[in-house]
Amino acid sequence: MRTTVVVQFGVPVDGIRMTELRSAHWYGGDDRNAYIHRAWMRRGLPGDALNGSKPQIAIANTASDLTPCNMHLNEVADAVKQGVWEAGGVPLNLPVVSLGETQVKPTAMLWRNMAAMAMEEMFRANPIDGLVLLGGCDKTIPALLMAAASVNLPAIVVPGGPMLTGHFRGAPLGCGTDVWRLSEEARAGVISNEEFIASEQSMIRSKGHCNTMGTASTMAVMAEALGMTIPGFAGTPAPDSRLLAMSHETGSLIVSMVAADRRPSGIMTKDAFINAIVAIAAVGGSTNSVVHLLAIAGRVGVTLTLDDFDAAGAGVPVLANLQPSGEFLMDDLYRAGGLLSLLSQVKDLLRPEPITVTGEPFVSYLTGQPVFDETVIRPRENPLMMDAGIAVLRGNLAPRGAIIKPSAATPALLSHTGPAVVFDSVEDMRTRIDDPELDVTAESVLVLRGCGPKGYPGMPEVGNMPIPRKLLEQGVRDMVRISDARMSGTAYGTVVLHTAPEAAAGGPLGLVRDGDLITLDVPNRRLHLDVTNEELATRTPGPATVSAFATPTRGWAKLYVDHVMQADLGADLDFLVGSSGDQVDRESH
Ligand code: FES
Repeated sequence: MRTTVVVQFGVPVDGIRMTELRSAHWYGGDDRNAYIHRAWMRRGLPGDALNGSKPQIAIANTASDLTPCNMHLNEVADAVKQGVWEAGGVPLNLPVVSLGETQVKPTAMLWRNMAAMAMEEMFRANPIDGLVLLGGCDKTIPALLMAAASVNLPAIVVPGGPMLTGHFRGAPLGCGTDVWRLSEEARAGVISNEEFIASEQSMIRSKGHCNTMGTASTMAVMAEALGMTIPGFAGTPAPDSRLLAMSHETGSLIVSMVAADRRPSGIMTKDAFINAIVAIAAVGGSTNSVVHLLAIAGRVGVTLTLDDFDAAGAGVPVLANLQPSGEFLMDDLYRAGGLLSLLSQVKDLLRPEPITVTGEPFVSYLTGQPVFDETVIRPRENPLMMDAGIAVLRGNLAPRGAIIKPSAATPALLSHTGPAVVFDSVEDMRTRIDDPELDVTAESVLVLRGCGPKGYPGMPEVGNMPIPRKLLEQGVRDMVRISDARMSGTAYGTVVLHTAPEAAAGGPLGLVRDGDLITLDVPNRRLHLDVTNEELATRTPGPATVSAFATPTRGWAKLYVDHVMQADLGADLDFLVGSSGDQVDRESH
């Protein structure tokens, strides 16, 4: 048993007893192995840094020049380091696999599980007592949380923060959302292609991730509502000096978390996941949160199902008037009071027990949080939308479920029956969608298959198919679209996603033919293909995939296709479900 002085949430606390540190198994003792572990690590560290009494804190850092949303995280890591040193720990920068949503092909989602697996193994393999998880761009926070849950070492997330709002010709630009909007306007001839391209240099105004309530912002909300950040951190803009101040505090807090042995499994309980679902519904968050929450829950041993999303989220009002559901952007949310102010208004919908990384209940931070702009954070009695959340649909077209985000949909299309127009792959869709001869009307239901976890592979964000050009020119801006794909968190429309099982796994989506009537009935949570079982039994599935990449013979893609689970289980690999803990039994020397 060793004793050290640590700092708790920025306040020095004397006499917290540090139980024998995990890292002491590397650095403690006087044998040859301890000699080797210490000697190679000294390199200017203070003499007592490796005597087995100071918590070794890894700063899992997704900074990368190829992940533009996370490029600033080295500066953030420096602030974390200062806090760790002050609290009596030893900070260690640990670069981990990073995923730039806009850059990596064929889709960042293919690599989420790989990143999580690599992180988990490095967390376990190294002499580490606690983790600070630096993320931002879409997949980085979920991958970090999946890894931290699997190794179950004390951990805190630092969300890298959204960028400031850029403007084009006097109007604010929402990252992603306005790309979709402007590109559709260019395709419809409302603006020229030159005007569309001219907006490019205004889109990204500063460091940070997308400034809409897209997936990255949603993941920060998720992490905070799960209890895995310092309360009040999520949504702090990347260039804001308070981001560095809270990062500094995080460095101090993780040292006391090690002393308190406060681990993810004690924070991310079932009720904490319910709180995350409620919080994401209240901000109108991304549909991608479903697969990520399911995967994280699987890693920490919590039984979470699609039905939990509908049950916990359906009665929650959307209070954040943010794109893509609403009008404003992330720095407006921060100016209006931030996430805690918003969640204060739905405190009664949150479970009271779950604690945060501070050891205090999350809901204890939801008092005395005024709202400064009710046009951004709408009052409970005047929400942006009632009963939003994420609706889970079932029926003969989605036996294991599909999802839709009603707040991003056209209300009149939430109950709709129309004839199917089927595309067998994203390439097929892109080839034919603007064909003047395509037999499609505003009442049609666009169906896209071959884009699920196995079929693509990797479940890309292509579910928000473009509206056929000839309909755009008629003024049509939304249609019912159904796929086994995902959708960008910045996108919008009446888009049914994550249909399970996917076509490539034998799901009925593979049996749909052009002209089949499909009924979307969101109020009754139904997705129905109006074809008899007898007729379906005679049909041969359409091609599940047209991509050679979808039948890989080696590398990560082969491992992924052989083991990835369906969307209703979070699209994690089957052998990564559950926690392996932090134990390493054998010596390397
Ligand atoms: Fe990184 Fe949007 S592309 S958060």
